[in-house]
Amino acid sequence: MKTACHQVALPTAPATTDLASLYAARSGPTPSTTTTREPQEVHVTLEARETQWEFAPGRTVTAWGYQGLVPGPVIVAYVGDTLVVHLKNDLPEPTVIHWHGLRLPASMDGTESVQLLVQPGETFEYRFVLPDAGTFWYHSHANETVQIERGLYGALIVLGPDEPTFDADRVLVLDDLKLDRKGRIAKTALFDRHSGREGQVLMINGRADQAFEIAAGQIERWRIVNACSARYVRLSFGGRPFRIIGADGGLRESAMTVTETLLTPGDRVEIAVGPFEDEGAEIAIESLKYRRTMMKWPRRVQWGTLRVGPRAPSVASIPATLATVVPLVPPGPATPNRIVRLGARMTFHGHDWLINDETHHHDAPVKVGELQIWNIVNETGMDHPFHLHGFFFQVIALDGVRTEPTSWEDTVNVVGKQTVTIAFRADDRPGTWMYHCHILEHHAAGMMGHFEVVR
Ligand code: C2O
Ligand code: CU
Repeated sequence: MKTACHQVALPTAPATTDLASLYAARSGPTPSTTTTREPQEVHVTLEARETQWEFAPGRTVTAWGYQGLVPGPVIVAYVGDTLVVHLKNDLPEPTVIHWHGLRLPASMDGTESVQLLVQPGETFEYRFVLPDAGTFWYHSHANETVQIERGLYGALIVLGPDEPTFDADRVLVLDDLKLDRKGRIAKTALFDRHSGREGQVLMINGRADQAFEIAAGQIERWRIVNACSARYVRLSFGGRPFRIIGADGGLRESAMTVTETLLTPGDRVEIAVGPFEDEGAEIAIESLKYRRTMMKWPRRVQWGTLRVGPRAPSVASIPATLATVVPLVPPGPATPNRIVRLGARMTFHGHDWLINDETHHHDAPVKVGELQIWNIVNETGMDHPFHLHGFFFQVIALDGVRTEPTSWEDTVNVVGKQTVTIAFRADDRPGTWMYHCHILEHHAAGMMGHFEVVR
């Protein structure tokens, strides 16, 4: 859906990132100093095109994929590398690629606000330095409710110089697909605008009914991306404990043992899976009931299966301290300098979703270097995953009660009627940026804000 009132600001900011000054600004993860690797250019071609996608044995659907794949290819590179992406648009409509979670120059953010849409038959080259290690993703940022649903998304993994050792690394991109009675990707329904679109086919890496095997005694690193339009994933492995090691912005301070974790649309989590001792066990990779809106009755659903295979030796070692997350705001009361209200309004086409009473809100500029403390106030009765482009934030309070940040985030859930306080500092990357609800239908129906970062 086209945004109501966007201006295409011609990129004035530099197209490359000066890593030394970026790190000095302390606006995100503390980089490792041990790197000795020569930075490289990583070239990737992403041709967006129609494809007959086999999402289950013998079951295909007409989808859209980068390189004809759903998800698109996993891009892997190292911190400091320059990623060069050749986008070719072979779709029947314009497109653009957004690099979700990356601290890149505004001109490379891949939205309609910073570049012209890439028309059918046209190409565009993205080129930017990768400053941070972590699990990121890329996706279309044009007509998203259609283009992402049809398959235009993929994972981007950036490796740091001193990653913890695991017995295996996996990337799992979760997506649900809504099919109509003829087995085609369903058209947008009116109800989707209210609650967001959820599909009946649950895919991991583009396939339904995925089965994985882990050797007994081994520990694997799983990087998980929620690419669903609206579905929340309250991830569980049949109730067994696992350890969270990373969030949106790379490794967290230390591993945290849990039996479940919530991934909103747009969210990433990195977890240590295993060790399991019961060879032959079958563990459900599932999503527990989560009630994000009063309009939908939640169900527990299974995404795939994890089998425990024959025992094998392990080389995994997870250090007690994984990363240092320097707090942006010292403990104690924190006064917000901005209020972002998430709201809704009934209209003739159902609902508009609002920021500070407006669709596609134009927010005040943010000054480079100035500490931002924003209260994200959810005035609705429904959860919204709030996503900020281009900058990492720390969650510093929930309903006014201070929390101690242990990770960097770019997407945070704001429960109905809740206030989440985030803090971030804009480093020197001036230009046009945005924030929005990552339920794609809400974003399209107006729950987004534009703002300028200015010197
Ligand atoms: Cu994944 Cu504008 O976002
Ligand atoms: Cu929303």
